[in-house]
Amino acid sequence: MARCFVTRKLPGDAVARLAAEHEVDVWEQDHPIDRAELLRRASDAEGLLCTLSDPIDAELLDGCPELRAIANFAVGVDNVDVAGAAERGITVGNTPGVLTETTADLAFALILACARGIVDAAGDVRAGRWRTWSPEGWLGRDVHGATLGIVGAGAIGQAVARRAEGFGMRVLLNGRTPADGRVSLEELLRESDYVSVHCPLTDETRGLIDERALRAMRETAILVNTARGEIVDGRALQRALEDGWIAGAGLDVTDPEPLPADDPLLAAPNLTVVPHIGSATHATREAMAALAVDNLLAALGGRPMPHPVG
Ligand code: DGY
Repeated sequence: MARCFVTRKLPGDAVARLAAEHEVDVWEQDHPIDRAELLRRASDAEGLLCTLSDPIDAELLDGCPELRAIANFAVGVDNVDVAGAAERGITVGNTPGVLTETTADLAFALILACARGIVDAAGDVRAGRWRTWSPEGWLGRDVHGATLGIVGAGAIGQAVARRAEGFGMRVLLNGRTPADGRVSLEELLRESDYVSVHCPLTDETRGLIDERALRAMRETAILVNTARGEIVDGRALQRALEDGWIAGAGLDVTDPEPLPADDPLLAAPNLTVVPHIGSATHATREAMAALAVDNLLAALGGRPMPHPVG
């Protein structure tokens, strides 16, 4: 029996499955554990089940000398020092696959919401501003037949591309590895009516969508980011929206998270922000919890994790 620390309550019965085999301590609050408490509660853990809100860095790894396995409740592992864990002989796992389609749904929902101004239009109804059917009111942009540029041609990017086919869109893909039909980022930004970001956050992609990239986009284009907030330069995006370099943006992820209600970005026009809900369906979050626990059970039992990273 190993000692495990779980940094958040998770949906479904996965943590109960872990507790049936190991000694499990769970942070039960509805907000992320603070740093000092995390260092204290995880200090004697052999298994750690953490979320994207927990920075698992060298200090934490050094403070947990008995740690053998880390299961991140996310497909992205930018919050974990994966190389540092490997140096210390700690296995890291993530939750790929199960959230692909759900996150692609949300990306497409943001494309549609931004294109048709759904959030503002619904707000007008509630505020009593729907006084008449209006030939020139609430005019949006077509999604069908438009060009969609997908930055990051991994599983989620490709799932968005499949949805775009159903809308008769022309799809441009840009990815890390060259492949047939892929275009340069410059061409993608220049040609696309919608740009949807799906690459992982790495040293190479941090700030990828900066002022230069935003200025390269069409004035009528819409940017959607459901990957990681740090990939888009928030200050540059604010100026892009205020000065009309692009027509709108839909963000599921921001830098920082949560985005404070008084962040100047939120005052920019034609912007829809939702609180990192890409994978937030009952079924998907339960499946993510199940995978994270499978990873931990395997590693603590001396078996390879089903979904190792690195
Ligand atoms: C992930 O798994 O990386 C997602 O951002 C969580 O929704």
